[in-house]
Amino acid sequence: MFSFLGTYSLFFLISFMFLVLFLWIKQILFHPMTKKNIPPSPRKLPIIGNLHQLGSSPHRSLQTLSQKHGPLMLMHLGSVPVLVASSAEAAREIMKTHDLAFASRPKMSIPDTLLYGSKDITFSPYGEYWRQVKSIAVVHLLNTTQVQSFRQIREKEMALTISKIENCCGLVIDLSEFLVGLTNNIICTVALGRTYSGIKFKDLLDRFMNVLGVFSFGNYIPRLSWIDRLSGLEDQARKVAEDFDEFLEGVVEEHISKKRGVHAKSDEDQDLVDILLDVQKDNLTGFSLQRDTIKAIILDIFAAGTDTTFTSLEWAISELIRHPRVMKKLQHEVTEIAQGKSMIDEKDLEKMHFLKATIKETLRLHTPIPLLIPRESTQDVKLMGYDIPTGTQVLINASAIGRDPTLWDEPDIFRPERFLNNTIDYKGFHFELLPFGAGRRGCPGIQFGMIVNELALANVVYKFNLALPNGVKGKDLDMSETSGITVHKKSPLIVMATPRF
Ligand code: HEM
Repeated sequence: MFSFLGTYSLFFLISFMFLVLFLWIKQILFHPMTKKNIPPSPRKLPIIGNLHQLGSSPHRSLQTLSQKHGPLMLMHLGSVPVLVASSAEAAREIMKTHDLAFASRPKMSIPDTLLYGSKDITFSPYGEYWRQVKSIAVVHLLNTTQVQSFRQIREKEMALTISKIENCCGLVIDLSEFLVGLTNNIICTVALGRTYSGIKFKDLLDRFMNVLGVFSFGNYIPRLSWIDRLSGLEDQARKVAEDFDEFLEGVVEEHISKKRGVHAKSDEDQDLVDILLDVQKDNLTGFSLQRDTIKAIILDIFAAGTDTTFTSLEWAISELIRHPRVMKKLQHEVTEIAQGKSMIDEKDLEKMHFLKATIKETLRLHTPIPLLIPRESTQDVKLMGYDIPTGTQVLINASAIGRDPTLWDEPDIFRPERFLNNTIDYKGFHFELLPFGAGRRGCPGIQFGMIVNELALANVVYKFNLALPNGVKGKDLDMSETSGITVHKKSPLIVMATPRF
């Protein structure tokens, strides 16, 4: 009897223990904290995570990985979780549906060193400071009225560039140099009041852009930050920042002393530095503008505005050289509209639909900033069924979206006609085409940059026939890319220009 009772209670005891165990496991498995649905990830290595999978062309490697793992992938770059979006739908979810949650930027050491502790627009975290500095740049430089007011500057610089190329007709020239000079001069005149075309200034800008694009180990694997010191990256960044600061101090001081002088500038002659100094003095916005902020904004306008504009022009002309049929069609359009004028002016651009289609096609195929600028989530978000925690870095692979075969017919072919009779635009409302990003952190300089692109491309193809030297065929032009935030053509565009008329 006792033994029967003993067996009975033992049975109950074991059953009870199983029940407790079952409930405990159930609680663990179905607890809201552990029920997280994480996006698929490629297999990672200890310490470096997925860093080894980025290669020299991260936007291309990430595109290949997304074909295997899906349009939302969670990578681990060192110890940092990085969400990679590679479809128009994923981009829309991030930059439209959940734009506010993803409107910040991660803290990064190189931009911090170069841009006065990220006091610029591009790298400052989302918040009141960012809102104020962005609004200053938009109101005084980047809105439609302001952009139109710089028309004479653009047309004058364009005429100068055309005449420089004319002087070299029949010779082999580095067209990339002419295009860099054009975009730099326009931004310099608008922002600083005059051009700075010497080797020293160009070298400074080159060094700045190079360092900005270098991968920093410290940002992703803090315990390997010594590599940045040993490789000289930290010193390089500090030195460029010091040299640029010295240059910008000179520019600001020159403006201050001119303002005090007898020949003060008229309102129309005010450049960005003058305007920023006035905003600082009058404190109209109730936002106190420190000297470092003024310098950071100017530097940002250079960094964001020159490289991107020049590189899209360089890619457009390269594709046209590779595709004589398209070049001919474009030359036909601009010549018809120009009606024998010596130069195309900005009013003519309105009617040039094939020109606009050519530029769109270039931005699709050669997205200048292929992964946009990294963002960071500031709240937990449910994204396409996945749980994305606060503090996740986000990369939007705009280049992969531009070449997505489910969105674009023969995506690797350069065919501007695809944009004729097509409403897809690049202003951030169509997520199939995102060269300027979208949402709150989208590029505020679209108009500023595109008018320079259109004017320059129209005039170069209107005035000149372009051929590669030594009888090299257009189709053999080297189109390999550099790596960095902005992706350029690896080798400069060396051509022989001959006048068309
Ligand atoms: C073809 C030319 C250009 C391209 C392809 C381009 C592209 C971009 C991209 C991809 C971003 C990041 C967007 C994102 O994170 O969603 C950006 C941001 C920015 N761009 Fe542009 N850009 C161009 C021209 C310009 C110009 C001419 C200026 C100013 C003169 C400018 C000023 C800025 C600024 C200030 C930001 C930072 C916005 C923020 O973080 O709030 N860009 N641009």
